[in-house]
Amino acid sequence: MINLILFGPPGSGKGTQAAHLVERYGLVHISTGDLFRQEIGNGTPLGKEAQAYISRGELVPDHITIGMLRNKVEAHPEAHGFIFDGFPRTIPQAEALDRLMAEEGAAIHLLIALEVEDEEIVRRIKGRAAISGRADDANESIIRNRIAVYKNETAPVFDYYARQGKSHRVNGIGSIEEIFQRLCIIIDPLVEPGESAPA
Ligand code: C5P
Ligand code: MG
Repeated sequence: MINLILFGPPGSGKGTQAAHLVERYGLVHISTGDLFRQEIGNGTPLGKEAQAYISRGELVPDHITIGMLRNKVEAHPEAHGFIFDGFPRTIPQAEALDRLMAEEGAAIHLLIALEVEDEEIVRRIKGRAAISGRADDANESIIRNRIAVYKNETAPVFDYYARQGKSHRVNGIGSIEEIFQRLCIIIDPLVEPGESAPA
């Protein structure tokens, strides 16, 4: 049982690495960005409310995001643990996540930040825009706003978990496999023997 926050700026490879980590450790991957895009695609009231913020590269208000995340966690009582991707994005979200984990008799064990510098982020996100089809990926000023929001509102979450001795940094530049190995070196010692599937 391990609950892990995959952290880092937009375009740092969280979603890509989460898919590989799910395979290796059998965790449930929760991407709040993906959940918002599903809600928008389904035309739900929550999706309509979130859309305005997302289109500007701003954060959706905490109470909306926290409620959506809580529903998703509670929908997986069988989970052996979670990978949180794109959440928490603010200190109140981190505090809410810690409370939710405590209610479930669990805890966050680890936060791993993928480090990628700004110009590489802009280059990557512009490159993926055609494939992702995301309007917030296609516009450079929105991308730069998302980076600024990350620095101002989200980066303090790293320090919040660092104070609990849980935060780690990983170089997010390299091949997908190289970066995956860097993550496994940190995660493996926390996984009980027999719990981790061989690579
Ligand atoms: O995580 P991802 O980059 O997919 O998120 C896309 C957008 O969804 C963010 O730029 C933000 O507008 C919104 N979001 C949010 N709060 C979160 C996760 C995503 O406001 N915790
Ligand atoms: Mg993502």
